[in-house]
Amino acid sequence: MKFVKLFEPITIRNLQIKNRIVMPSIGLAYTRDYSFNETFKAFYRERAKGEVGLMTIGPVGIDRVGCVPLMLGLFDDKHIKPLKEFVEELHRETDVKVATQLFHMGRYAFSIFTGMPPIAPSAIPSTLTGETPREMTKEDIEEVKEAYAQSARRAKEAGFALIEILACTGYLISQFLSPLTNKRTDEYGGVIENRMRFGLEVIRKVREAVGEDVPMGIRIAGNDFMEGGHTNIESAQFAAEAEKAGVDAINVTGGWHETNVPQLTTNVPAAGFLYLARGIKEKVGIPVFASNRLGDPYVAEKALRSGACDMICWGRPLLADPELPKKVKEGRLNEIISCISCNQGCFDAIFSASPVTCILNPRTGREKEREVKRAEVLREVWVAGGGPAGMEFALTAAERGHDVTLYEKESRLGGQVNLAKAPPGKAEFDNVIESMKHRMEQRGVKVRLNTRLTPEMVKKSKPDVLVVASGAKPVEMDVPGIQKPHVVSAWDVLMDKVSHIGENVVVVGGSATGCETAQFIASMGTPEPDTFTFLIYHSAEDPEFATKLLHNAGRRITVIDMVPRFANNVGRTARWSLMKGLRLMGVELRKKTKLLEITDDAVIVETEEGKASLKADTVVMAVGVLPDDELVREVKEDGVKVITIGDAKKPRKMTEAIWEGFEEALKI
Ligand SMILES: Cc1cc2nc3c(=O)[nH]c(=O)nc-3n(C[C@H](O)[C@H](O)[C@H](O)COP(=O)(O)O)c2cc1C
Ligand code: SF4
Repeated sequence: MKFVKLFEPITIRNLQIKNRIVMPSIGLAYTRDYSFNETFKAFYRERAKGEVGLMTIGPVGIDRVGCVPLMLGLFDDKHIKPLKEFVEELHRETDVKVATQLFHMGRYAFSIFTGMPPIAPSAIPSTLTGETPREMTKEDIEEVKEAYAQSARRAKEAGFALIEILACTGYLISQFLSPLTNKRTDEYGGVIENRMRFGLEVIRKVREAVGEDVPMGIRIAGNDFMEGGHTNIESAQFAAEAEKAGVDAINVTGGWHETNVPQLTTNVPAAGFLYLARGIKEKVGIPVFASNRLGDPYVAEKALRSGACDMICWGRPLLADPELPKKVKEGRLNEIISCISCNQGCFDAIFSASPVTCILNPRTGREKEREVKRAEVLREVWVAGGGPAGMEFALTAAERGHDVTLYEKESRLGGQVNLAKAPPGKAEFDNVIESMKHRMEQRGVKVRLNTRLTPEMVKKSKPDVLVVASGAKPVEMDVPGIQKPHVVSAWDVLMDKVSHIGENVVVVGGSATGCETAQFIASMGTPEPDTFTFLIYHSAEDPEFATKLLHNAGRRITVIDMVPRFANNVGRTARWSLMKGLRLMGVELRKKTKLLEITDDAVIVETEEGKASLKADTVVMAVGVLPDDELVREVKEDGVKVITIGDAKKPRKMTEAIWEGFEEALKI
C-alpha cells in the first residue's frame, strides 16, 4: 500500500497543512512552574523536524485553578514571549504548523498542586483525584469563560496557527456536557441544550477574542464511555452545534479518565475508535481528526482512505519515534520505533507526576542532553543476552561506531518480551523485538543466536568490553510437592511449552506475570476476534450469548499470593484493565494466602482463617525472578571491562532495562 492520503495537504479555514498527521496535545510534565523551557523546545524541535503536519504544543492551562504547575500556563501575559519566540522559530525553520490546546481540568484538578479547591459544574466527587469540587457560581462561569478568551488572545499573540479547546476526557467542558457531573438546575444544567451551553459559550468567546482569521478546533469525546454519560449520539449533536458556534475542526477522541472501557492500552484494537470519528463526520462539514491507536502507518492510511476522518492523530507514536512521518514518507518503515501502547514511560509517568518519556526511546524528553555521538575510541563489544537491555545496548553502542556482537542462547531474540507479548491483547509487544532487531541490523550489530556466551569464549578472544545482559530466571520455590509433574512455570505456560492445562488451575504468585498467566489460561478456547465478528455480523448468535462465550474461561482459575494487592507491579493506567479482565473471566484472586504444600490434586494453603485446600490439577508457579548473572561471576575482569545491565543486574521493569542499556552504551 502506498501512503498517498497521509501525505495529502489539507486546508483548515485558511491554514494550509502539508499532510494529514496531527500530533495531539500531550501533557509532558517537563516543567514545575508552568514555564516553557529548553526540555520542551528540544522535544518539540525533533518532532517538527520529523515532519508532522500539525503539531500541538500543550495543553496550556487557562487559569490556575484548572491546571497544575507541571504543565504549561497561558494565563498570564508573561507566558507569551517564550512561546512566541519558539513558535516563530518553528514556523520559520520548518513547514510544520503549530497549534495549542486550551485546558481546564475542572473537577479533575488536584488541589495539592493548585493550592485551591477544584471547581466544577456540580459538587460531584472525582474518582480520579478523590476530591469533591466546589460547584461553580455564575460569577465563576463568567470568569472561566473570560480566562478562555484571554488565553486564546495570548495564543494568537504567540503566533499559534490553530487553537484547540479541550472538551473531552472528563475535563471541565465535558463535565458540563454530562448529566453525571452536571446536576445544575439553572440554564447550564438539565436538558442537553443547557448542558452544551457552557461549551458553546466558550467557543463563541474564543472566536470573539481571536477574530475571524485564526482556525479554531475542539477536541471532544466521541463517546464518554461512562454509564449514564454522553454516548456517540449526544457527542455528534454537540459537534454539530460547535461547528455552528465557530469551530473549524473537530478532534475526536475516546472516553473519560474514569471510564472502565480501556482507551489507550495495547488491548484497544488498532483504529478501535475510528467509528466515533466517522459518526461525527456524518454530522459536520468541517475536517474531523480521528485519534487513539492509529500509530501503524498502514492503519492510518486506511483510516483516511475510508473517509471516516480527514486527519489522524499520532500521540504516543510520536513520543516513541519523532521521525515517524519522515520515515513513512521515505519508505524507511523498518526503521520505525513503533509505540506498543504500554503506557509505562508516558501515561503512567504523568499519573505519578513524572516527566514523560518512552520505554522504547530513551531519548524522549531528554533530547537536549542525550545525543548519541560517535565514540572517541572504538571498541570491540560483546553483549551476552538479546533481551531489551542487551539489544538497546548493542544498537546504541553500534550507532556510536563500536564493533558489536550480540550472543543469545535461545533461537530468537527478545528475552522476557516473548513472555510479555503472550497474554491476550498484547501481541503488539512483538514490535519491541522487531524494531530493535531491524535497528541492530542497520547499524551492523552481529547477532549470534543459539549461542550461549561462555567464560572460556570471553577469556580466549578477550573483547574490550563484555556486557552481561543475560536477564533473569524464575525463582524455584521450596515446598513439598514442587517436583510433581502437574507443577509448571508461568514462563513455560506463556511460551506454549505446556501441552496440558487442567480444569482446576492454581497460579501461585499474583504479580504481573501471575495475573497475566491466569488471563492467558482463561482466554484459551474463547472465540478469536474474527470468530466473534463473524457470529455477530451474520447474526449467527445472539450478541449476549456471544459475549458470554468471550467471558467463559471454561476452567476454575485461582491466583494466590501472600500480598494484599495483586498486579502491584503493573502501571496505574494498565492495571485496572488487567484486573477487569480477570474479573470478567471469573478468575478468583486470593490475597494473604501462602502456599504450604502441593498434593496430587490440590494445593494446601494458609490463610488468615487457617489452613485450606484448593483443588488443583495444574499448579502454575509465578513467584518472581532472580538475576541470571553466572557469567559475571565466572569472568574475571582480566583485561575485559565487564558491564552488567538489565535484569542480570537487578530484575526490574522493561523501561528501566532499556534505559540502563542506553545509558551504559553512551559511556563506553
Ligand atoms: C502522557 C499523555 C498525556 C496526554 N495529555 C493530553 C492532554 O493534555 N490533552 C489531550 O487532549 N490529550 C492528551 N493525551 C491523549 C493524547 O493526545 C492522545 O489522544 C492519546 O495518546 C491517544 O492517541 P495515541 O494512541 O496516538 O497515543 C495524553 C496522552 C498521553 C499518553
Ligand atoms: S512508553 Fe509505551 S505507550 Fe508510551 S510512547 Fe513509549 S511505547 Fe508508546
